[in-house]
Amino acid sequence: MRSPFGIFRYILSTCAFIFKGVMGIIITIDGPAGAGKSTTARALAEKLGFDFLDTGAMYRAVALACIRITQPPFSEDFLTGVVKGLQVRSQAGKVFLDQEEVTALIRSPEVTRTSGIIASSESVRKRMVELQRLSVEGKNVVCEGRDQGTVAFPKAQCKFFLTADAEARAQRRALENQANGLQTNLEELIRENQARDDRDAKRTTGPMVPAADAILLDNSQMDIDQVLALMEKEIRERCFK
Ligand code: DC
Repeated sequence: MRSPFGIFRYILSTCAFIFKGVMGIIITIDGPAGAGKSTTARALAEKLGFDFLDTGAMYRAVALACIRITQPPFSEDFLTGVVKGLQVRSQAGKVFLDQEEVTALIRSPEVTRTSGIIASSESVRKRMVELQRLSVEGKNVVCEGRDQGTVAFPKAQCKFFLTADAEARAQRRALENQANGLQTNLEELIRENQARDDRDAKRTTGPMVPAADAILLDNSQMDIDQVLALMEKEIRERCFK
């Protein structure tokens, strides 16, 4: 006997199957660093039987490509040259820079810092959005990032903006670092997150702002199951009514 949630999943995956290849369903999750976007987006994609696109990983891969050549600051001309023709793919939990798998390499503190810098570049953002749109064509995808509901997929069927308070976000990022074998200074992390959020929110191209039609979710006091339950309710109402 299926639970109501099981029935919902079944209906959703059947609809997804029928829609697949005809019209893709795009669900966007934007928000600041450490708000739990990746974990939530990955889990949501799995529940719905959708693909998952980690766009932060794409910016990280570009940052890695840059620091392999030189150290910041980078001129816009340099960044334009780096991303021209560059292939960056985030697929099934793995990230590829051209043909090389860089999944683990892009999680270093140096790449994290550098990704915040290169993400303000107009040519980098233009290329990333181009690659993001290409990669979702004809698919059902949960896309996670900063500008997914505003710039990359303004017509997405369901948009979320996920936030949490500074302390909760730093704690989560510290746990993530720990899982990747990295040490964290919490105070420093809060400061770095703040600086990155400010830069992400204030840049002129693709700033981190909620889309006008996004659902705002503060998950400081929620666990992942509560967040997923809320999202599924909204998705059911917006995509499958
Ligand atoms: O979510 P993250 O920490 O992996 O993101 C890495 C950097 O990329 C971060 O500085 C924000 C930036 N980013 C962005 O500007 N736009 C996106 N769609 C995704 C990430």
